[in-house]
Amino acid sequence: MCCYTVLVLYSPDTIVPKESEKKYRSAGAHGPRPLGSIADPAAVDLTVVIPAYNETARLPAMLATTLPFLARQPARSYEVLIVDDGSSDGTADFALKLALEYPESDIRIVSWNTMLGRAVPVRHGMLHARGKRLLMVDADGASRFEDLDLLWKAMDRIAPHGEAAVALGSRAHLVKTEAVVKRSFLRNVLMYGLHTILRIVGVGHIRDTQCGFKLFTRRAAQQIFPYQHLPTWIFDVELLLLAKQLRMPVEEVPIEWHEVSGSKLHVFADSLQMLRDLLILRTNLLLGRWKVPVPPPCPPAVDGNQ
Ligand SMILES: *[C@@H]1O[C@H](CO)[C@@H](O)[C@H](O)[C@H]1NC(C)=O
Repeated sequence: MCCYTVLVLYSPDTIVPKESEKKYRSAGAHGPRPLGSIADPAAVDLTVVIPAYNETARLPAMLATTLPFLARQPARSYEVLIVDDGSSDGTADFALKLALEYPESDIRIVSWNTMLGRAVPVRHGMLHARGKRLLMVDADGASRFEDLDLLWKAMDRIAPHGEAAVALGSRAHLVKTEAVVKRSFLRNVLMYGLHTILRIVGVGHIRDTQCGFKLFTRRAAQQIFPYQHLPTWIFDVELLLLAKQLRMPVEEVPIEWHEVSGSKLHVFADSLQMLRDLLILRTNLLLGRWKVPVPPPCPPAVDGNQ
């Protein structure tokens, strides 16, 4: 009983966006406009969701590689959603100015006033995306954006007709290579600890849950993101646990990665927080306080389309 009370007290409430957060700004439009909804049919091929907190230093380089790459694929329409998580360095206004340099790109900027944690902007972007496929990518440029092609091909294979599926960028193949050895000892020990816990939680089959480069089909996003509760770093695990319980295909795709300075992960404090949140997550699901959605029935196969 007492444990249950603690659980209720520590469990975050469902995230509810404010009215102003349902509007976006863009370089072309005068004044904010209403965002799309994940419940609507897709309007573009790809939505790129970039959560951003205090990213004025790293965003220019990130957009300078991302946007030309997207523009080189004329057959694939896209939008870029930059979701500013209450930055105090003016990231949103800065992003709007950057957007002026890419008039041919559909860049949409959403922002709010207080920092809520990386999970919230990702979720917000996903719930208001208009793409057939939705990519979440960190603003730090640690992944090579060109590797989107690898995720894209994997997705063509596991979800040829837009079925609910997830393709994960993975750094697992880099373990024991220089990129990882260069990380601090403490960090590696914590990585091992984290992995042990992930096995207990139920996503031990995934070798790299935390990589900030993940591609979802629209149907997967519709089924996963409305049910996401955790606002902290460990939300990646929650997403994957939901995907598992919905029996979605999830494929890990090895991608290139380089550690970028200015990481906002505070190793020790964040690990403790992750541990706490994993326990909250597991217990809430076990007790049925957080419901897992039932996947909608598959649409009837259309003749000649299978
Ligand atoms: C974000 O940037 C502002 C302004 O540069 C700074 O005052 C603040 O401490 C930064 N926040 C974090 C968490 O680094």
